[in-house]
Amino acid sequence: MSHFSDQSRGNYRNYYLRRRAGHTDLAPDRDERLDLLLKDDHAKDLFQGKVVLDVGCNSGAVSQEIAQLHQAKQVIGVDIDVDLIQQCGRTVQQAFSLQKPSISQAEFPAERSRKKRKLLNGDRAGQAEEPISEGQLHYFPACFPALYGSLPIAGTSQAAISEVHGAAQEAEGGRKRSKGSENSSEAPAQKFPRNLVFYAANWAEEEIETDANRYDVVLALSLTKWIHLHGLDEGLIKFFQKCFDCIEPGGKLVLEKQGWRGYKDAKRSTQTLKDNYFKLKLRPEEDFERILLNEIGFARREAVKNGSSSGFDRSLEIYYKA
Ligand SMILES: C[S@@+](CC[C@H](N)C(=O)[O-])C[C@H]1O[C@@H](n2cnc3c(N)ncnc32)[C@H](O)[C@@H]1O
Repeated sequence: MSHFSDQSRGNYRNYYLRRRAGHTDLAPDRDERLDLLLKDDHAKDLFQGKVVLDVGCNSGAVSQEIAQLHQAKQVIGVDIDVDLIQQCGRTVQQAFSLQKPSISQAEFPAERSRKKRKLLNGDRAGQAEEPISEGQLHYFPACFPALYGSLPIAGTSQAAISEVHGAAQEAEGGRKRSKGSENSSEAPAQKFPRNLVFYAANWAEEEIETDANRYDVVLALSLTKWIHLHGLDEGLIKFFQKCFDCIEPGGKLVLEKQGWRGYKDAKRSTQTLKDNYFKLKLRPEEDFERILLNEIGFARREAVKNGSSSGFDRSLEIYYKA
């Protein structure tokens, strides 16, 4: 489990603030890649009822959105940076605090007993209860988490939320996961935030306990450059193979690879990355698709977006396992 003093793994702080800064057409808590994926005809029900692994989940915003808004059965986020995994707990609490209650949850006890009294007194006898409109709901205002802290998640202690779980061998020793839930991917479906769990681990090299049950969907978004620069060509192929092995038959790998141009800046972060950069023979644009289809064994590829590889304008692809 690693604390980092640099960002040589792409373990950026405030990543989603930077990433979403240019997207005035989307709400600030929505991810444009998920928007694109779900607009795509073939991927409309990509997450619904599925077990999803988000590798390199950073502070957890994408995992949280999938767990909360896209009906996933379970979402597992994993990141190499333990401080970011701790941040994931805060991301979940914040999203939970701002979640609008459903109409049935929103009826406050005082209001319920007032209605009951009225009905018993015959005021509205024989009339159907009026539904409450959204405008009448007094849910947690957006500024409240910053001012007063987040709402507690019922049945989950603060200590449990900020707890961090690591790779499988550590988890066996009683350590460490940050969560919305106690779930394993075999457990029955639960609602957000109980369908969400985070692990701190170097997933390219370590197992986490949910790997054994396999995933319907694995997300590898803006991650391959870091795996490649640290693990060299062999490490990247091993990572692709691990993704394939951890995906259920019929499952999918969603890949947003960084272009080769972006490796040049990344190599400046440490001397090791600089040395490694010159050893790399594989190129994202020329080799990844061939490796995934011909060597790893994915049955087919679908392009959701063709990016220019400048800034965050990256290609988004789905690889299907037969
Ligand atoms: C550039 S960020 C992308 C975040 C997120 N996937 C997204 O696109 O929204 C890359 C993330 O991958 C994480 N990461 C890098 N290498 C990793 C590894 N071997 N295992 C797990 N996480 C890793 C970093 O800590 C960082 O948070």
